[in-house]
Amino acid sequence: MSARPIVIDTDPGIDDALAIMLAAACPEVDLRGIVAVAGNVGLEHTSANAAALADLLRLDVPIGRGASGPLCRADVDFAPDVHGENGLAGYRLPASTRTLQPGVPLLARLIEESPDPVTVVPIGPLTNIAMLVNEFPKAARKVERFVIMGGGTLDVPGNVTPVAEFNIWFDPDAAARVFAFGVPITMVGLNATHQALVGRKHLPGLFASGGPVAEIVGRLLDGYYDVDGDPGAAMPQHDSLAIAAVVDPAVLTTVPAFVDVETAGRLTRGMTVVDLSDASGEPNCDVAMQVDVQRFRHLLDTRLSALDASLRQV
Ligand code: RIB
Ligand code: CA
Repeated sequence: MSARPIVIDTDPGIDDALAIMLAAACPEVDLRGIVAVAGNVGLEHTSANAAALADLLRLDVPIGRGASGPLCRADVDFAPDVHGENGLAGYRLPASTRTLQPGVPLLARLIEESPDPVTVVPIGPLTNIAMLVNEFPKAARKVERFVIMGGGTLDVPGNVTPVAEFNIWFDPDAAARVFAFGVPITMVGLNATHQALVGRKHLPGLFASGGPVAEIVGRLLDGYYDVDGDPGAAMPQHDSLAIAAVVDPAVLTTVPAFVDVETAGRLTRGMTVVDLSDASGEPNCDVAMQVDVQRFRHLLDTRLSALDASLRQV
């Protein structure tokens, strides 16, 4: 079976870095490019981190520099408290000398040029994706599927407000545009990622490997969750679950639903309103509901340890 072409749109970001490593480690996907967006931290950091990660992983793919802020709002906060000022919990990768391309035109070009339909995996705010839809609708219609880390169902609280998850909250207008566009969507929300708990103890192969990937993942896990060195701490893996869902769809159980995004609510901005009945209309999204955690952990450990070994040999 040929590798599935993907493009990652991302705001690295600690868990984004882990997701990009996973994509690089999986032959089931053909990573065609990485486009940065502002989110966890400012675009100057997310784009630099995307390029530096591509260097570390020896990825011969174009890196794009996308939107520096939401489509319409100015009242947003980055998340340095979670990801550190530089977006990688203070971990310093060698600065890349790559030339970055304008991100949204790059997204459109990678989609248009591909002989096979491309799956786009947004794991940050959806600003670039909404700009793709608005400025390059012909290309956007060719997308095979958007596999989005974002949103969630009401049984799990939001992580910015009681009802809103960060990626959707950061640019709700962009998210509403994408969910209304009509390209198939898989939504990997907090209700799923909070099942995908991973800590050092769940990655024995990787930490036995002891190479550059193990070192960074260890720092990311420790720095991201401030676990005070507790090796037993297991925390939700958001972005890497979206990549895992592309690599091995059996990791998730999804249900079809109609999903829309609240953009005006004083208290509910950024809420993904998930209608599992068909009262709101035809389903526009496959919503992740259950995670096969052991399968996810095994995929993460086996693939990242193999990547670690391959990078150590170079
Ligand atoms: O809510 C989790 C999401 O917000 C993840 O993508 C994380 O990287 C942040 O962007
Ligand atoms: Ca992210």
